[in-house]
Amino acid sequence: LMLLILWAVIGYGLGSVPFGLILTRAMGLGDLRKIGSGNIGTTNVLRTGNKGAAALTLLLDGGKGAVAVLLARTLAGEDAAQVAALAAFLGHCYPIWLGFKGGKGVATFLGLWLALAWPVGIACCLSWLVGAAVTRISSMGALVAAASSTFWVVFLGHGTGFVLGIVLTLMVFWRHRANIARLKAGTEPKIGQKSA
Ligand code: G3P
Repeated sequence: LMLLILWAVIGYGLGSVPFGLILTRAMGLGDLRKIGSGNIGTTNVLRTGNKGAAALTLLLDGGKGAVAVLLARTLAGEDAAQVAALAAFLGHCYPIWLGFKGGKGVATFLGLWLALAWPVGIACCLSWLVGAAVTRISSMGALVAAASSTFWVVFLGHGTGFVLGIVLTLMVFWRHRANIARLKAGTEPKIGQKSA
């Protein structure tokens, strides 16, 4: 148990690094909190107009989820990997450094699934792409990816990830509740737009 708690702490620590905020500050792109949705993730970094910063945010926010999983798995096994995955996701959404006001976890979600079970990760990325391509709305990509993820877990045979899959799906929906309200109202902006 001590080992799992240790990996929860390490995973949380990695997940809680807000790369979007760090990058946009370092590159002088303004205060993310005052742009677009105010979120710290890739979609909102893109609203600064800097595609490179957005791509790097996606890579690093995804990468921290993957690194947490791979480190835990290599050093402590599969249970630790799942604990680290959940902890990294929670770290991104609720970072202590930002008064627990973090992101929506989509990039980290994709990264941790790629590391935990790459077929599931690929399927989630493709689901995101389909959802986003059809609607041109980032949050729709996220909701499609999250909603389908547990299906992919079962269908692609990573049965031990079932409970984690359900928890992460619910968490992604919870973190997108403002987006869901905007989607219902028809005011959710398309990718790259500052507002609808
Ligand atoms: O990754 C978050 C995305 O799904 C929505 O971001 O900034 O439009 O709320 P945002």
